Order: sequence, then structure tokens, then C-alpha cells
Amino acid sequence: MATKQSGIRLATRLDEVGITDIVQVRSEIYELRARGKKVLGMDGGEPFFETPEMIKYAAIKALVENQTHYAPPYGLMPLREALVEKLASKNGIRVTTEEVIVTAGGMQALYAAFQSVLNPGDDALIFSPYWTPVGDLVSKAQARLLLVPTVTARRYGFRNTLAQFSTPKTRAIYYNTPQNPSGQVFSRAEAEEVASFAIERDLVVIAHEAYEDLVYDGVHVSIASLPGMAERTITAYTFSKTYAMTGWRAGYAVAKEPFMSALRKIVLTTTNGVATPIQYAMIQALKTPETEIARFRQEYRQRRDLLVAGLNEVGLECELPAGAYYAFPCAEIVHKNSRKAARILLHKAHIATIPGSDFGSQGEGHLRFAYSVALKDIEDCVEALRKFFA
Ligand SMILES: Cc1ncc(COP(=O)(O)O)c(C=O)c1O
Repeated sequence: MATKQSGIRLATRLDEVGITDIVQVRSEIYELRARGKKVLGMDGGEPFFETPEMIKYAAIKALVENQTHYAPPYGLMPLREALVEKLASKNGIRVTTEEVIVTAGGMQALYAAFQSVLNPGDDALIFSPYWTPVGDLVSKAQARLLLVPTVTARRYGFRNTLAQFSTPKTRAIYYNTPQNPSGQVFSRAEAEEVASFAIERDLVVIAHEAYEDLVYDGVHVSIASLPGMAERTITAYTFSKTYAMTGWRAGYAVAKEPFMSALRKIVLTTTNGVATPIQYAMIQALKTPETEIARFRQEYRQRRDLLVAGLNEVGLECELPAGAYYAFPCAEIVHKNSRKAARILLHKAHIATIPGSDFGSQGEGHLRFAYSVALKDIEDCVEALRKFFA
């Protein structure tokens, strides 16, 4: 007999969408700090520097000049023109202004991409461990995650591994390079293998290049720039990391038809565009000289080298991450369960990290340390680790 359901209930599409452990870890950090403890915040995903002055002034100028009305919902034309130029020169992706859309951060670009491509019941191949919200974006589309261990793909080949995990219902591959949380950077040869698999199986690639400017070893290759890929790739970008603009919620997506029409529908029916003064700030950000970006990259590299040397010194085995600003050591010497390991380090060494299991089951046994902090904090972190392991 059918039971009577209350009218006051949620739509089922959110059932599988979680609130990550990151929120839980952060509230424990606030609690410790409120009790006067100094906690080294290696848990964050924030750049170590402030948004450059010129970018802030561009937003202020736009406000003073009353650029406070609706902008075209897909982005101001001068901004889209600047993005088209950047994509051609930096990413090797040749598109028109109609193939670029300005979004509220990389997150909205990704949300729109997954919603545009996946039907309920579809499968999506995700290299794993993966940035947690991506799992939720797939779930929100009522599709299923097929976790593809990056380590296996790198050891046994991308084509073989993708083929092994693929199903007849697979529609898309999520391709994030440089990766969060592992800091791995896929090579050109690896990108080519993924591309040929996508073409052979007629799959869409959702590429995610939030850390494109933070590659220390090797080069960043945009998969959409490879032959035959522009028409089957939606690429999500953000201003959050390169320009330290996390709080501005500035990003964009690049895609050809039929995807762009779908992305437009989603932007129109969610935010109806990005705040106008912020778009002026984005135009200014794109004028940042490459030498300046290289200077920040060098600062991150210095932090990476210091932290990773310290981790290995105390026995937290860690490969040198080639990109992004995260180290992902094995933390089993603290505890096999990464949630417990994170809690132990937080309470005994006052170092905040994120448990590897937060990045999917294949992240278990690891901890994520963000090195996008002041150099002094990295030195203090290494010192605290030495004391903890002494
Ligand atoms: C892989 C990845 N993509 C996107 C973001 C966030 O992008 P946005 O701030 O533009 O939404 C993060 C932030 O940590 C990230 O690690």
C-alpha cells in the first residue's frame, strides 16, 4: 500500500548532493582559534596574495562611472573579445566571442557544463581522486560517477584505463589539469590519449583548467586545442587562482554549439550574468603581464619545494606535485583513516589539512596540504611536523 507523502519535502535531485567534510574541518578550526590556539591553515584553497590593486581600481572606476546596470547576460563584449585573444594566445583554442560565456566563477561554468551534457542515468568518467564538488555536480545531474584512478591511468595508459572503467552509458569525461587535490599535471601525450578515446567513443570532455597558470614542471596543455576536440569539449576557467579573485566569483566557459546554447540557458535561468563592475575588473585582470603571473608562480614553487621537502623529511611520503598549490602525501603513518589523521594533526600539531577521503574513496590514506600560504606559515608547519614526529 502506498504511504502518503508529506507535501513539505525536497525534490529528490539533491539527495546525493553532499556537504563536504571540508565544512566540518573548518568549523573545528574556528573553534580552536576561538579558544586562542594558533592553527596553521593548510586546508585552504585561497591564493596567498591579495587581488592586485589595478583590478580592484577597475571595479571601483566602473562603479563610480555608473556601470551598475545589466550587462549582456553572456558577458560584456570587450571582455569576451579579451578572452578570445587570451584563449588563442595562451591555450591554443581558437573561438569566436559567441563561443565564450562569462560565469560566476569556474563553479558556475562547471555546473552549466554538467547540466548541459548529462541526462539522469548517464555515466561520467572522472579521474580520481577528484575535486569534491565535481562529484556533487554529477550527482546533481542525476548521473553516475565512474572513478578512474589517475595513478592507474598513468601507469597502464590512459586509453586502456578509460576503456576499463567505461560503460555503454558513458557520456562524458571530466578532465582536470593541473589537478586538485594531487597537483598532477597531465602531459601532452596523456591529453592526446584522452582525446583519441573521447573521439573514438564519441564522448564529451568537460575540461577544467582552474590552475592553468600554476604549472612548475612540464607545460599546460588545453585538451580543447587538440585536433578534433574543440567541438566536443566544454572548458571551464576561473579568475580565482591566477589573479587571487576567489571572492569576486569570476569565471568563464568555452564551447561550440550545441553546447553554448545550453550553457546560455543555464546562465540565463540562474544568475542572469555576472555583476557588471566585476566584468570590468576581469577586463583589467586580463591585462596582467605574463611576467607578473610568472613572478607569482615562482613564489608558489618556492613554497611547494619547502613544504614537500619537509613532508618527506618527517616521513609523510609525497611526490613533487607538478602544478596547482596542493601537496597530497600519504599520511598512513599518522593514521590509516585520513579523517582521523587530519583530526590528530589538527589537535596535536595544530595543523589544519583536508582528509584525502574527501576527494573520493581513492584519496583515502592521504592528506591535502595547501601551500598557498605565507612562507613563514610553511616554515612553521614543517617545524610543527618535526616536533609532532620527534
Ligand atoms: C579544481 C578547482 N576548480 C575550481 C575551483 C574554484 O573555482 P571558482 O572559485 O572559480 O568557482 C577550485 C577551488 O578550490 C578548484 O580547486
